[in-house]
Amino acid sequence: MYNSLQCFLSLFLIFSTSLTATKFNFPRLNPSGVHVNDPTTISMPLTEDLKTFYYNQTLDHFNYRPDSYTTFPQRYLINFKYWAGANAPIFVYLGAEAPIDNSTTNIGFLNENAGSFNALIVYIEHQYYGQSVSFGSLEEAYKDASTLGYFNSAQAIADYTEIILHIKKKYQAKNSPVIVIGGSYGGMLASWLRLKYPHIALGALASSAPILYFDDITPESGYYSIVTKNFRENSETCYETIKNSWSKIDKVASLPNGLSILSERFNTCKPLSKSYELKNYLESIYIYVGQYNAPPSYPVTTVCGGIDAAYFGSDILSTIYGGVVAYKGNLPCYVNSQANLLSETNTHGWPRPHWITTYYGGHDKKLVPQRFGSNIIFSNGLSDPYSIAGVLENISDSLVALYTIKGSHCLDLHCANETDPE
Ligand SMILES: *[C@@H]1O[C@H](CO)[C@@H](O)[C@H](O)[C@H]1NC(C)=O
Ligand SMILES: *[C@@H]1O[C@H](CO)[C@@H](O)[C@H](O)[C@H]1NC(C)=O
Ligand SMILES: *[C@@H]1O[C@H](CO)[C@@H](O)[C@H](O)[C@H]1NC(C)=O
Ligand SMILES: *[C@@H]1O[C@H](CO)[C@@H](O)[C@H](O)[C@H]1NC(C)=O
Repeated sequence: MYNSLQCFLSLFLIFSTSLTATKFNFPRLNPSGVHVNDPTTISMPLTEDLKTFYYNQTLDHFNYRPDSYTTFPQRYLINFKYWAGANAPIFVYLGAEAPIDNSTTNIGFLNENAGSFNALIVYIEHQYYGQSVSFGSLEEAYKDASTLGYFNSAQAIADYTEIILHIKKKYQAKNSPVIVIGGSYGGMLASWLRLKYPHIALGALASSAPILYFDDITPESGYYSIVTKNFRENSETCYETIKNSWSKIDKVASLPNGLSILSERFNTCKPLSKSYELKNYLESIYIYVGQYNAPPSYPVTTVCGGIDAAYFGSDILSTIYGGVVAYKGNLPCYVNSQANLLSETNTHGWPRPHWITTYYGGHDKKLVPQRFGSNIIFSNGLSDPYSIAGVLENISDSLVALYTIKGSHCLDLHCANETDPE
């Protein structure tokens, strides 16, 4: 996965011919659509129906060394409101690469549907995020290979199965069918859990899960081709402007006082130290809005509206700047503010080349129904760039693909809204 994403950045065919990215700033595979800040200090409204628990989770599920039996507290939340008890179903939302806190409100799909199934809703936080951290603190957990070695999807899925079994026992729900649900990377976890532990989960819903994102299956430039399509469908002139802007920025940057010209034109918070800083910032806006181009606001429309309106002048740099201002709003300065730098460094685990991508290693690349059984729904929005690696065709009667033409990343898991696409 990382290799292919890294390739995207060095290829970056559509938007840039000259971007030599060193930093991985793809939007995370996160269903929330919101940037996550410091994960350790969040309070969440807990109602009588929604309760927080901690499970003493086994550090290492895959060998018998004494230190494998070390435990860490893993957080999970249960909403009891709709549950009919005993044989009624259990919906388990599998946390992805973020703290679990806001999932109880963001993943409206569960609250909206659990009632008609009399289901229990469980939300489990992913290891190495939020409060579910081994070795005592995030700093320790992310310290080096000796602690990060347990940070991978195979362990995460095994963690989830332990908690599911624990809950079934605790609430005498031995016969309750379990459906696992996840979005994006979490959707990959949901489908892998169903495939690997079919005796624990009866079915899975994998929303916007790029489960075919392996080098030899999905073309590397696919993500960008959909981002580009989203812009192009919105406005051809906007698309052309962005396409031409990269070489323009390079050209200006190569002038003797080029960086100070760019710093002034983009009203940067500090003088730019290299043109990459600017290009990286612009790129991160474009791919972010491209991934979350959802109603009601359709952020691609906002950016393109700003570019096409030419509020600050009609040359390329001015129109691009207009797009930034339209999207970010009126700020004292842009590009390299302290807040922007902080939000980039706060995404635990995601930019790390090795650890996060071991997520994708070690899992079966092909979905073979005869071998694995079934009951997985893959749902995708076709305007989500990650749908390039989603399952878009029915594989069997019970490995089912659904898609919405205008849907964005994980939109189907959010609260239903009258502005939702068909
Ligand atoms: C949860 O939502 C609140 C309110 O929108 C926000 O301030 C907070 O940063 C969010 N926390 C996470 C972990 O996303
Ligand atoms: C979980 O671990 C903590 C710390 O080791 C211990 O105090 C607690 O009793 C354990 N809880 C359970 C339910 O085993
Ligand atoms: C897959 O089959 C289901 C019915 O089982 C159908 O609703 C859905 O449209 C099919 N998906 C595709 C992509 O044809
Ligand atoms: C739909 O989204 C709009 C815009 O965010 C919001 O104002 C409205 O309350 C939402 N409707 C529902 C039913 O949640």
